[in-house]
Amino acid sequence: MTMRSFVISLLVPLVCGTCLDGGVPPSERKNLENEHGDSYPVGIFVPDWAASWAANVLVATIVEEIFGYNVSIVKGTGTVSGYYAVSGCVDPTAVGDPGCGLGNATKHHIVMEAWTNGYPLVWETLQNEYPGVAAKNLGNMGYEGVTSTFVPKRVIGEAEQAEGIALQYFKYWNASWYQPSKYFESISAIPSGLTKLCSDSTSVMTDDATMRRHIVFTGDVDGLVHDSTSDAYSARCDDGHWWLSPSCRSNSTLCVPFITGGVGWGIEELMHKSTKLNMPMALGVAASWSAYTEFPFLHPKSHFYWWIPDPTFLELEPVQVVYPPHDKRLFSSGDLSTATVGVSVDKHVSRDLSILAPNVENFVSKILMTLEDMNAILLDQKNTTDSWRQTTCRWLHSNQHVWQSWIPDESQCFPGFGLYDTGLDDFTNHRVNTSNKIVCQACPSGTFSQLLEDSIGETYICVPCAKGKSQPLGAATDCNLCKSGEYQDEIGSKTCKRCEIGLYQDELGAEVCKSCPASTTTLGLGSVSQKDCGCEEHNINIDVSGSYNCVPCSEGLTCPLKSTLVDLQSGASYLGQQYTPKVQEGYFSTVLAPTEVYRCSSVAACPGGTPGTCNGGLTNTPCAQCRAGATWTGSQCEECEGWRQVLWARTSENLRAA
Ligand SMILES: *[C@@H]1O[C@H](CO)[C@@H](O)[C@H](O)[C@H]1NC(C)=O
Ligand SMILES: *[C@@H]1O[C@H](CO)[C@@H](O)[C@H](O)[C@H]1NC(C)=O
Ligand SMILES: *[C@@H]1O[C@H](CO)[C@@H](O)[C@H](O)[C@H]1NC(C)=O
Ligand SMILES: *[C@@H]1O[C@H](CO)[C@@H](O)[C@H](O)[C@H]1NC(C)=O
Ligand SMILES: *[C@@H]1O[C@H](CO)[C@@H](O)[C@H](O)[C@H]1NC(C)=O
Ligand SMILES: *[C@@H]1O[C@H](CO)[C@@H](O)[C@H](O)[C@H]1NC(C)=O
Repeated sequence: MTMRSFVISLLVPLVCGTCLDGGVPPSERKNLENEHGDSYPVGIFVPDWAASWAANVLVATIVEEIFGYNVSIVKGTGTVSGYYAVSGCVDPTAVGDPGCGLGNATKHHIVMEAWTNGYPLVWETLQNEYPGVAAKNLGNMGYEGVTSTFVPKRVIGEAEQAEGIALQYFKYWNASWYQPSKYFESISAIPSGLTKLCSDSTSVMTDDATMRRHIVFTGDVDGLVHDSTSDAYSARCDDGHWWLSPSCRSNSTLCVPFITGGVGWGIEELMHKSTKLNMPMALGVAASWSAYTEFPFLHPKSHFYWWIPDPTFLELEPVQVVYPPHDKRLFSSGDLSTATVGVSVDKHVSRDLSILAPNVENFVSKILMTLEDMNAILLDQKNTTDSWRQTTCRWLHSNQHVWQSWIPDESQCFPGFGLYDTGLDDFTNHRVNTSNKIVCQACPSGTFSQLLEDSIGETYICVPCAKGKSQPLGAATDCNLCKSGEYQDEIGSKTCKRCEIGLYQDELGAEVCKSCPASTTTLGLGSVSQKDCGCEEHNINIDVSGSYNCVPCSEGLTCPLKSTLVDLQSGASYLGQQYTPKVQEGYFSTVLAPTEVYRCSSVAACPGGTPGTCNGGLTNTPCAQCRAGATWTGSQCEECEGWRQVLWARTSENLRAA
């Protein structure tokens, strides 16, 4: 009655398109927007099982109505498709190639109920091969996934009332002391059509390797039959359908029927456990999926294989049987006689969600559901067959105190973000303004995000880059030091400036550049060391020790910027011919005094270039003499008809005087 009227009262808002009172209506919802200006809804990817639908649709409703985003719900397949989806693979449900690393941006942002350890290799490969976009694990949902054996609560209760024994503990199954079969149906009452034959080739009971392991770990040869033709072991089932554990093998009415599905999920484990723990059990494999799921309802006094969270047997309020604590070493050796371990059921998001919608990521990371919360939704959906939207909406209505603690404080910023005053439309350094709403926004370029601890807790603010630093990117957590050759004399810069001509900087993070030594300068902007400084044009550095002594060049010398005596002598500069000082054509200087220049009377005799260069075999200073017995013809020295002296004038003295 109360349930019914509650449902009716909810019909009104559902028709209007919202679940929550005051929820953001569809027409007012926004899309995510990425840095390229693409706009798309928050993508929630739903691997196809009940608990996954429950968790993901619940999250969808909050993302829509509390955070005001459009949501697209995409149906997935198994666990792995969810890994691919939030790792940006373009075709996550493809059986062959899911197309990882191909798209620009992932369109799937959230997967709840993700069994991270279900396929650890695939998960790790994604993390290693696509580190920039691989799914991010935001941690446990609040419960563990468990695969084990279960007994309906009523059966447990009956045993407890009758004898005060707790059948959820393995030790109350010890056949030396107890007779648990009193509380269960006898296998003789179970129609044979419900279970597979043990000899069925699709049953694990015919798997030789599994059966050999049973001998190795339990020594129970009597529980198997050996076919000498094929040298293969199979389970011994005297009635064809049930394998009996040693403690009830001689009298099957003392066995507790255990049913499982598939090829015999958990059969190997239960053979080890029932044998080593002295538990009287008859193990059977259901003939079909429907036989498996119906069996515990048709024969509720039974023991069955199951996993949680899952709605299949929820009405029976199944209680998990507790085995001896998990022994990892035994398990990895193949001995399955201790308890299996639960696995974390997690929340996965895309790597870019913290940029696109940090409050949504923050919310997902805060979600904490108990197994009871999950079971309540699963059971309600099963009982009413209403949609997941309606069922999760009902849960949201009746558990407001639970999910409201998952909604993050909007002023709790992530690294990369900073407090933003929506009233002033500007970044702010404090999160309290009674009149304006304070939220988080990505820090703009020229700033970085800095931790702020205030009376509420930790958050981040955007701080301008200091002098000597810059940051070209947004959402940065630090600024970069200016490189050598650069400086920045202002705060809040996106880039550093290059040192002007005549200046250089050989250190990182400079606020100013250093000046070149007196009367020297640089070739261009952004010089990175004092070595980039050199004498100005028409001067030459006559210091050869690495220091500077710039003197004017006399007539007859071409001295480009950064001329040095060394370059004049060698006729080469590491900067190229353009920057090599030279003796001009028609002039001459000696190797020993390269800056003392003579003007030659004949241009033909003095080609210029490096000091000491004469044409046509001439020698002496300045190219005034042919060798003995030769004479100058006007273009070269030739064998003698006497010789002419080439006229010259010493010019450097005059120039220096001038
Ligand atoms: C969000 O979805 C609603 C309903 O489908 C639509 O009216 C609205 O235009 C969408 N918003 C954006 C920003 O696309
Ligand atoms: C990548 O983004 C550009 C610009 O938004 C878009 O035109 C293009 O279709 C996208 N490519 C893929 C593979 O999604
Ligand atoms: C098997 O056990 C039941 C229950 O204890 C008992 O009534 C029956 O006599 C036993 N049968 C044999 C053959 O021992
Ligand atoms: C079952 O009880 C017997 C008799 O007390 C005992 O020896 C044996 O260790 C018990 N088995 C287990 C698995 O506890
Ligand atoms: C299922 O629904 C019926 C009525 O529709 C109600 O009486 C019953 O209590 C429900 N069961 C559960 C487990 O919610
Ligand atoms: C709060 O907002 C008001 C109005 O927008 C503004 O004038 C004021 O400076 C803000 N106060 C603080 C502490 O930022």
